[in-house]
Amino acid sequence: MTTLRGNWNYPTSIKFGAGRIVELPEHCRSLGMQRPLLVTDAGLASLPMVARAVELCREAGLGCEVFADVQPNPVEANVTAGVAACRAGRHDGVIAFGGGSALDAAKAIALMVGQTRPIWDFEDREDWYTRVNVAGMAPVVAIPTTAGTGSEVGRASVLTDLRDHTKKIIFHPKMLPAIVLEDPELTMGLPAHITAAVGMDALSHNLEAYCAPGYHPMAEGVAVEGMRLIKEWLPRAVRNGADLEARAHMLVASSMGATAFQKGLGAMHSLSHPCSANLGTHHGLTNAVVMPYVLEWNRAALEEKMLRLAAWLGLPNRSFDGVLQWVLDLRREIGIPHTLAEIGVRAEHAKPFAPQALNDPSTGGNPLPVTEQDFERLYRNCITGKLRAV
Ligand SMILES: [Fe+2]
Repeated sequence: MTTLRGNWNYPTSIKFGAGRIVELPEHCRSLGMQRPLLVTDAGLASLPMVARAVELCREAGLGCEVFADVQPNPVEANVTAGVAACRAGRHDGVIAFGGGSALDAAKAIALMVGQTRPIWDFEDREDWYTRVNVAGMAPVVAIPTTAGTGSEVGRASVLTDLRDHTKKIIFHPKMLPAIVLEDPELTMGLPAHITAAVGMDALSHNLEAYCAPGYHPMAEGVAVEGMRLIKEWLPRAVRNGADLEARAHMLVASSMGATAFQKGLGAMHSLSHPCSANLGTHHGLTNAVVMPYVLEWNRAALEEKMLRLAAWLGLPNRSFDGVLQWVLDLRREIGIPHTLAEIGVRAEHAKPFAPQALNDPSTGGNPLPVTEQDFERLYRNCITGKLRAV
């Protein structure tokens, strides 16, 4: 059991606490929904928790239907099909229910249901978001069932563009869900290896946001506490999935990561995205593998920052090396492989992936500048396990 509970309005309205899924109908109603479309992925759709959410809505008189044609690393076709389902069922809002892929697809569906332009016109470039017809967007209640992506508090969706096999960010400030319902009981069924992988995604968000250059003390404050929660609770959540207190803290740490990364991400995400877009590797797992290599790469820019982080985390060695060692130990403890080769990335991928990594929107947030050649070398290091090679 856990008594952790809270109602927060930062960065959006968050209703946090075990068992609070029962509040779903009232939150839908408060956003004006009579006929919400629950968007989730195919894997979750058959689980009792989806049936229960639908039942709760229907018992409260809401015309709730399910759309579950969402694949991992979602693509435009998933959004198009969801928009069609939304229009066909005359739905007036979206319940985004699931892990990062389902949440991102759901947020994109809620955006696109009111647009006439193609989705790639809303990519996160310059002021493209101003092209959005805001009045047409459907309201969203987001319900995360994993603790990692933090997409429930994000203002964007990541979609794979099959035309060039790159991950693209679709952005509008109003894509931030109006209400987030965080019930840690919904994350209890996650198997240990997924708990580990998505938990490391949350760590990569907090860590890259903290390391990104630029003056943003608010984001850094959120990020360091997010990392402390992950240090304390991720190993416990992996060891015992039924540890509700660990699940609760990880769910908050995940939202904190996505809140903090408004400041920026970095080369961990730049390296990771081409692997997922081309080979379908798991996003969080890929970030977890590349994490120490990118830290080491950025060492020169991070020595002083890592002193402060090490102190906050209570590490025995209060230095850059202390933080690096903690990351390596944590990865080992929760079963993350050490090389990209172990998750299917091969030496011949380094060259074609390097320009994709360079063009990734996360690259701008890396503490040190990274060239295409640098990315190729970083890939080779991550594939072969050469942590200290520069
Ligand atoms: Fe991520």
